[in-house]
Amino acid sequence: MTTQRIRPARPDDLPVLVAIERTASETFRTLGMDLVADDDPGTVDELAPYAADARAFVSVDADDQPIAYLLLDLIDGAAHIEQVSVHRFHARRGLGRALIEHAASWAVAHRLRALTLTTYIDVPWNGPYYERLGFTYLRADEETPGLRAVRARERASGLDAWPRACMSRSLRDYGATLGPKAVSIRPALAAERRALEELQFRASIHSTRYADVLRANPDAIEIPPWQFEQDLVRVAEDGDGVVGFAVLLPPVDGACELDAIFVEPDRMRTGIGRKLIDDAVASARRRGANRIEVVANPDAVDFYERVGFAGNETVATRFEPGRRMHLLVDS
Ligand SMILES: CC(C)(COP(=O)(O)OP(=O)(O)OC[C@H]1O[C@@H](n2cnc3c(N)ncnc32)[C@H](O)[C@@H]1OP(=O)(O)O)[C@@H](O)C(=O)NCCC(=O)NCCS
Repeated sequence: MTTQRIRPARPDDLPVLVAIERTASETFRTLGMDLVADDDPGTVDELAPYAADARAFVSVDADDQPIAYLLLDLIDGAAHIEQVSVHRFHARRGLGRALIEHAASWAVAHRLRALTLTTYIDVPWNGPYYERLGFTYLRADEETPGLRAVRARERASGLDAWPRACMSRSLRDYGATLGPKAVSIRPALAAERRALEELQFRASIHSTRYADVLRANPDAIEIPPWQFEQDLVRVAEDGDGVVGFAVLLPPVDGACELDAIFVEPDRMRTGIGRKLIDDAVASARRRGANRIEVVANPDAVDFYERVGFAGNETVATRFEPGRRMHLLVDS
């Protein structure tokens, strides 16, 4: 049994990592996948930013020499395993699994929601192996914009000569071990704008009828910067990070418009939407409004009714007809 110790990669480790990758990819020849075996193992220069950023980890032997390594990227709120590679002579001893568990605890510590990766479906030490480690395949419509970009690069480099797919492992179980996840609401930071747009994209493609329009047009989602500048954006977060947000505009004629409300798909129906509405009510009261108005998309009408909104006037919206609804706010 190989003794395992995992530590961050240092710059002087990097040439060894390139060599490990070369030996690890040799195993693809046994399946006739020479194209993969011959694929460029990367360069020290390409690895350097990972080490500089503390997103490269090595498994080392008794002499502190790397025998396996892991590279992590941040993609759409998840820790993306860009590479996990075990030296051929040290394969099948649990080093890969230990590195992936290391990635999971790193991701939880960084309040990320999941581990993701892309891999070959039919290679026994790829897809089936990751399934044993708790990963599941993502359907094409579950791939986030960042993952789609990774897949596009892979296709362009010819790696798709055999079936490949994205996989994800939720870190909710890890979160559960950290104790109950209290959801709190706070003002959004301007720097969170992109992350919230991505959250909005995920929520919208998950549960609205215009998912196809958005998939074809991911740039259609844009939260105007002035909404951050005027402190109108409020985020909900729990132990795993940001799980939803809402935007309430300033009152006009006593009514504050709820311009957005979105919850992470895997946190929907857990009370976060209601908490964001409660927060919006408190905020509307503070601003002296007597009601909150919203144009509900058809799939959200039940939610709005459940939290107290009423109204059934049909109005046009950018994507499809919506229903204008309101909630009275006692001052
Ligand atoms: C609409 C949305 C914000 C709701 O957030 P949520 O966190 O899932 O809602 P909650 O868990 O707080 O639900 C509050 C109540 O509404 C109910 N509810 C929520 N979604 C529902 C649905 N689709 N159908 C029926 N009831 C629903 C819940 O059961 C809950 O009822 P309860 O408190 O009596 O048990 C979320 O589903 C979302 O992001 N949807 C996609 C984007 C969207 O449509 N936004 C609205 C734009 S107009």
